[in-house]
This record gives sequence, C-alpha cells and structure tokens, in this order.
Amino acid sequence: MAAQNGFCASVVASSSCITSSSSRGRKVRSSLNNNINIKAWSVTRHFPRRISFKTTKNKAVAEPSSSNDVIDDFGLLSNMAVWSNPANNENYKLQTQILNLTNETTVIRSLDWDRDRFDIEFGLEKGTTYNSYVIKGSEKTVLIDTSHEKFEQLYMDSLVSVVGNDLSSIDYVVCSHTEPDHSGLIGKVLERAPNATVVGTKVCLAFLDNLVQKEFNKLVVKGGDVLELGDGRQLKFVPAPNLHWPDTMFSYDTESEFVYTCDAFGAHYCTKDVFDEELPKLMPHFSFYYECLMKPNARSVLTALRKCEADGVKLSTVCTGHGPILQRNSEELIGDYKKWSEKALEKAKSSVVVFYTADYGFSDRLSQSIARGVVKTDCEVAMLDLSTCDAQQIVEEVGRASGIVLLAPPNAKEEIQDNVGVLIGAVKPGKQKILVCESYGGDDEPVDPLMRKFAEIGLQESQSPLKCQSSPTEGTYQLYEEAGTDLGQLLTQKEKLKEMKSSMSADVARALGRVSGGLYIVTAVQGTAKSAMVASWIAQASFEPLGFTIAVAKDRAIESLMQVGDSFVLNCLGEDGFEAPMKHFLKRFPPGADRFEGVDWKPAPCGSPILAGAVSYVECKVVSRMDANDHWVIYSEAIDGGVFNKDAKTASHFRKVATYY
Ligand code: FEO
Repeated sequence: MAAQNGFCASVVASSSCITSSSSRGRKVRSSLNNNINIKAWSVTRHFPRRISFKTTKNKAVAEPSSSNDVIDDFGLLSNMAVWSNPANNENYKLQTQILNLTNETTVIRSLDWDRDRFDIEFGLEKGTTYNSYVIKGSEKTVLIDTSHEKFEQLYMDSLVSVVGNDLSSIDYVVCSHTEPDHSGLIGKVLERAPNATVVGTKVCLAFLDNLVQKEFNKLVVKGGDVLELGDGRQLKFVPAPNLHWPDTMFSYDTESEFVYTCDAFGAHYCTKDVFDEELPKLMPHFSFYYECLMKPNARSVLTALRKCEADGVKLSTVCTGHGPILQRNSEELIGDYKKWSEKALEKAKSSVVVFYTADYGFSDRLSQSIARGVVKTDCEVAMLDLSTCDAQQIVEEVGRASGIVLLAPPNAKEEIQDNVGVLIGAVKPGKQKILVCESYGGDDEPVDPLMRKFAEIGLQESQSPLKCQSSPTEGTYQLYEEAGTDLGQLLTQKEKLKEMKSSMSADVARALGRVSGGLYIVTAVQGTAKSAMVASWIAQASFEPLGFTIAVAKDRAIESLMQVGDSFVLNCLGEDGFEAPMKHFLKRFPPGADRFEGVDWKPAPCGSPILAGAVSYVECKVVSRMDANDHWVIYSEAIDGGVFNKDAKTASHFRKVATYY
C-alpha cells in the first residue's frame, strides 16, 4: 500500500481479525477488513493553521498508549501527536483509535488524553474522547459525527483508513449535534465528499450553515424519519433536544440495534477501552458528566428515554460521542440516568422555565449556563425553544413555574414575537419572578423595554436584565450562571429554611455549633471569571502531601472554579483586622460583579488573588471532591504559600448553633 497524503503507512501482511475481549463475553466482534491494513501511521505534515504539534511532553492525566501497533481488544491506535494550546501554551497528547464493531460498523475515536476542561464549570480528570462512527450499509455509507478540529490530520487519515481514499463513497453525514467537538471536521469531510448529504434536525442544519459557510446537501429529519441503507436496514431518528443543545438527535440502526446518542450517556473519560469494561473506574466520570451536562435538562432526559421506548429504540449498545460505548453495563447506566433525572425532579423545590431561541446568537449556550445555575439550587428547569414551541406548551410550562427566564428573541421573527405575546398573556403577576437577558444575536429585542412589558402587568424581576455586549467569555457565562443561581435561591430560600429547621434537632444543632473554625477568604480565577468567598469549614487533612478539606455550598459561584485539577488561593485572616475583608467578601454581590474591586491584592502564580489583608496564604490544587448533600467537601493539596505576619494569630470563628455559618 502506498503512503497516503504524506502519511507513512506500512503494510500488515494479511488481513486480520480481532475479537474484542471475547473472554468477557462482549457482544461485538471486531475485524480488520482488507482496506484497514495500515499497521502504523505517523503524523508528518498538513497541520491545520493555528495548531502546532510539538514533541510529546509528559503531562498526561490519563494513560495513553505509546504503541502504534494493532492491539488485540483496542483496534488500531495511531502514533501520538501533540497539540499546543495557544491559550496557555500547554501541550496535549492526541491519538486516534479505530475499531470495527461489526463487519459494517466502525468507530473512530479521537483520544484527547490531556484535555483538562470543558466549559467553565467542567474540569476533566481523565481527558476525553470524541467518537465518530461509520456504517457501511449494502447500498449507502453513513458517517455519524466527526471530531474536534484539532484532530484534523489524525482524524481524516483514520477516516481514509476506514472508508478508503475516495471519501466520496460517503453518502450521508449524520450530524447529531453541532457543538464543534463533534461537528468541527464536517466541513473538511465535505471538501472531500462534496456530494454527501448532511442529515440533522432543522435547528442543527441551521447551526451548521454558520459553521461550514458553504453550500452543501441537506436533509432535515424529525422524529420517526428513517434513512434506507440497503436490504431493509434503516437508520431511524429520535430528536433529543437539550441533550446537550436544542439540535441534538439520536440515530438508531435497525440492523445492528446500535443507538448513536452523541453527548447523552457519555463520559469525559479517555482510555483505550472502547467499551464500558471497568465500571468502578468509569462511574465517577459518568456521574459527574451527568451532573454537569444533563442534570439541568433532567426533564429532557426523561422525555428522550420515553421516546426511545415508544419508538422501539433499544438502549443496549449505546454508541456515545464521549468516552466508552455502553454495552456491558448499559442497562445499569441508562437506569442511572432515569433514576438521577427522576430524583432531580422529585427533589425540586421550585420550577423555572427558560425561554430561548435556538439558532439565534448565543441564546442556546447562555440559556444552558442559566439552567446550570438554577439547578444548583434544587430547582427544576424546563427549556422551551421559542422558535419551535406552541402556545399550549408555553401556557402549560408557565403555569407550573415559579420563575421565568427569557433570553431576548430576535426582533424580526414574527412567529417568535407571537410566542412572546402568548408568554406575556400566560404569566401569573405577583406569583412569579422573571429574569430577562440578552442573547447577543445582533437583532435582540431590547431587554429593558421587554422587561417593562412584564413589569407593567405586575411581574417582578429577580434582578435587572442581563446585558451581553460582546462575544461571550468565561466571565459572561459566569454572570449568566450566577444570575440563574440567584433566581433559584430567591425561589427556594423559604422552603429550604423550613426544611432545615424541621429536620434538625435543636440540641444537636447547638452541640455541633460548638465546633469552631477559622476565618479565610478563598479566591479563584479561570480565564476572565473570578470569584471569592469567606470560608470557615476548613481542616487540615493530611501530612504527606500537605492537604486540607474545605466545604463549599453547592450553590456557591466559586464552586465552578474549584474542579479537580483547578488551583485557588486560601487567604488566612488574622485575629486583628479580619473584620474589613470579611465584611467585604460577605456582601451579596450581584451576578458577575468584580469581588475584588477596591481590594488590595496581587496574583499568585496560578493567577488567583493573594489578599494584602491576609496574614498568610496557601496556593492549592484541588485533588478530589466528595458529595456532601448540600456542600462539596473539596480536598486540596498545598503547593506553595507564605506568611506575611509571623506574630499574628489566626482569626477564630465561634458559633452557638450549627444551622448557619
Ligand atoms: Fe460534546 Fe455538547 O458537545
């Protein structure tokens, strides 16, 4: 076989057949067919612009393979490449992996071994994968999703290995969801398969138009639509909006009975295991992923599960977009999604409906940030797309909600304006709170007059309308998330107080109240997002390494900046002079406010503020987090530190009752 596209390809002597973990009774069989005879392939050139590959640096948080050979159970692994992130100059190891799941179905996994963050709130401990699938029907070949653009060369080469050098044999490219980790290379695929038809929901294809920015063949599908792949084999579609964007849909292959779910049921967990073999190791990542990405959409999860059941879609082999394919434990893991979503709804003390406009500005992403903030406070969230929902849905959802969030819709769309009219007619003045926000779409209905329409009929705002006057940054998403948390707290505070009082014995509360603590200011930074909080529930927890725990309420804004691997600074306050910093940081800051305005500080090497008013500081790195019901107990390692006043005594904090800080 000749080298392809400048890639060095060596030849395996004969086609081989690999059985994947047959000793464990796995249902699939993987075979290397004749056109995947590349034993090893090396990255030599054609790197995308702005992306540079350098020598591998030893930074892995996961455990990459160094081999480029065919490996039993793991299929074909490419050579390792290294991507340099222009944002922080850190190097990240990249690799691709190909495994035939059946004779006709192949997974191409892009292994992002070192990725350490997904959005502001989602710290990653074990990297992630972006999974793409090829199905060769007897008449049609389908590609389901692609990869992140930083994988361009590795991914395109893998695709050629699977499909052949002529990518025009791809008939359909199914786009399950347009977030760039899955759709980032669709444009590149279409350059080499210009006649392929891209299949997606209406919202998805509208998004994709903006992403690809050239003409391509499109097929809009809705629930129940099918693609014929030959000999009666069909790909059946199930829309699953909000898992994780409004554009998402599942695809179900009636022949293999594999379902392709993109973000849903995934995990940011990068290992060579293509399947969910080691459940105890996978589980913390699977549940954390649910918590961050799916819990804000618990109702949408249950709706999608119901639709799958009604449409005869079996969830036994779940081909996810991130992490392992679920097969060995799919029943248990899907059951967990159902159980967690039901629990989130049962536990909900209040309900918020978020109105956004899919395919308009940053409405979808900003609305997800708000939903995430609201869910932190034990509120249920319903997401409604103003461009597709009907009057009955609006009236029903508004009727159940205590809080309403409205992302400014575009001025020019008449049908959307009609829906806003229905919303105004459906609200319950005096009984609900509303939050109005900009969408940064270029034609936003101005938010202040929009808010006035609600105020005139007696609806109270939870805070002034949120403004977004430039392309959103980490700080903007933090602002929207915090505004969501504020709204949720407003709606649930009475109920929570009542519950806390009734569930706690006065004697126990008084006894526990005698446990004393110190007084500290915790500061943390991620990009343009900055936060701080007064802390008292802190205790040293280990000598080697020097480590301590800190309890952080789940609805604290700073919690998002204290994920595993994140750094922060613990500022210790002294017995003398603790009042001023404590008073400052105890203030209730409006969402997105700069907590450090007027405060004297300098950045630690990690960027988090060291306060001039502290008697000492410790720079720390989060090692693990334990779920303690309404708090996270965060165990961190002390990395660096200094004492400014060696004679000062640490401030102590005494209470009489354990029901408050
Ligand atoms: Fe994995 Fe929402 O993208």
